[in-house]
Order: sequence, then C-alpha cells, then structure tokens
Amino acid sequence: MTEQKPVTETTATKVPTLPDAQTVTQVTHWTDRLFSFRVTRPQSLRFRSGEFVMIGLLKDDGKPLLRAYSIASPAWDEELEFYSIKVQDGPLTSRLQHIQVGDQIILRPKPVGTLVHDALIPGKRLWFFATGTGVAPFASLIREPQTYEDYDKIILTHTCRDVAELEYGRQLVESLSDDPLIGDMIGDKLVYYPTTTREESPKMGRITDLLTSGQVFQDLGITGITPETDRAMVCGSLGLNNDIKAILEGFGLREGANSEPAEYVVEKAFVG
Ligand code: A2P
Repeated sequence: MTEQKPVTETTATKVPTLPDAQTVTQVTHWTDRLFSFRVTRPQSLRFRSGEFVMIGLLKDDGKPLLRAYSIASPAWDEELEFYSIKVQDGPLTSRLQHIQVGDQIILRPKPVGTLVHDALIPGKRLWFFATGTGVAPFASLIREPQTYEDYDKIILTHTCRDVAELEYGRQLVESLSDDPLIGDMIGDKLVYYPTTTREESPKMGRITDLLTSGQVFQDLGITGITPETDRAMVCGSLGLNNDIKAILEGFGLREGANSEPAEYVVEKAFVG
C-alpha cells in the first residue's frame, strides 16, 4: 500500500436544522479504507465511555439509513468522534466517507453497549483487544479517567493489516501523555501493543496467535492472564471475537454483561 498522510479539515460549527441532526466539525482521512470525523454533541446526550449509537444519513427517499457506531471520544468530550471504514459499495459508508465539515449527519441519542466498566468486576489489569475499526470504543475508554482509577495496568492491543491502519490509534495513544485531563493519571499504566499481519512492522502476527504462544506476555514482561487479576474487552470482526473468547475462556475468564458483570466483555466492530 502506498503511504498516505492523514488529511484533516476543520472549521467553526453551524447550527443543525434536521431533527436528530448533528453538524460535522472535523474529518480526517487516514487511508483509502479508513477515516474519522467529529460532530457536535446533543446537549442532552449522556453516555458511558465505550458505548455506541446509531448514526447515518438521509436516503434519497427522505428516510434515514442508520448503522451502529462506537463513540470514539470519551464521555467528557464536548463533541463526538467516530472512526469508520470506507466500503465502496457499502450502503452507508460509500456516502458517509464523502462528508465534509459543515454537513449534517443523523444521530439517534440512545447510547447502548457492553464495552463499559459496569459490565466488569474489579481487577488489576484491563486488556483492550481490537482489530481494525474495533479500536473505536477503546479510543474512548483510554481517554476515560475511570479506566486509570480502576486498574493498575491497561494493555491496548491493536492488530491491523498494515502499518497505515494503525495510525489513528498510534497518534491517539501518543497524544495522551500531554492530555491536560488524564495525562498525569496515565503515568506508565497504559501499554500499547500494535501488530500487523500483512505488512512488515516491529511486531507481526495475529493477536490470537501471540496470546496462545505466550509471546505477548514475554514481549511485555508480564505474567499470563488469570481470572483473579485480568479483565478484558474485545472488539473486532466476528471471527476475532470468537477466537479471543475461546482463548479467554481457556484462561478461566467468564463473559459478563451490564446485568451480570464478570471478567470479560465482547462487542462486534460494525461495518457497512
Ligand atoms: P489477517 O490479515 O491475518 O486476516 P480486517 O481489516 O479484515 O478487518 O482485519 C483486521 C485485522 O484483524 C487483520 O490484521 C486480520 O488479520 C485480523 N484478524 C481477522 N480475523 C481474525 C481472527 N479470527 N483472529 C485474529 N485476528 C484476526
């Protein structure tokens, strides 16, 4: 893949006019497959870091076309951020990828999801396992103060096909030490473990293989995952989610939910 520099566009916000409409305030194209964007936040919207909402555009017939998107910004942010794949023949993202600053999108202000602190019982280490755009809920959670209040160590693993696809997450992690709100809280608690599968990089391989071989523990100089100390959140493709679930269950962790917190939770990264 040819190397691409992210292109960011930003300007002052306009007032939305459609019901449930929010105005785009920033768009960044990371690769020809990935982009992120920020929109105004409805004043009434309260959500827990890690949750998702339905967003979309109006179709030609005037009806909304909506998809589930994890909110990539933390609960305290004045705006909302999203991170999306571009599917050239995808019903929504084929159009959404062309949004520009000042455009409006539809956002249903009903946040839901299982990748929330409330769905886990207390522990010492928290793992975030992401592939591709599955890093979005963790982009929110690594900016959430509670993450650092509740855990001694937070390990974000992100596996992508190539190096350019890691860039959104990498830049975010790098920016956190200077963050006025949580920079001091993070200290050396946050560990970032990026891997690629189809392009040469310092760490190659699927996270599933790196877990089962024990390589990730060796690389990070830490003990293996146990139900006594470790909690995990997983967000990727269906295949990734199922494979990590099996690995975590093998380590003795049980799946939790909002109604019944346990040691790990899973959510599918949404595409379309
Ligand atoms: P791979 O290149 O070996 O398929 P995608 O861009 O297709 O969503 O994939 C994102 C990343 O997730 C890729 O690096 C891909 O590796 C990896 N991946 C896909 N399925 C699995 C799985 N079942 N277990 C582990 N990694 C996976």
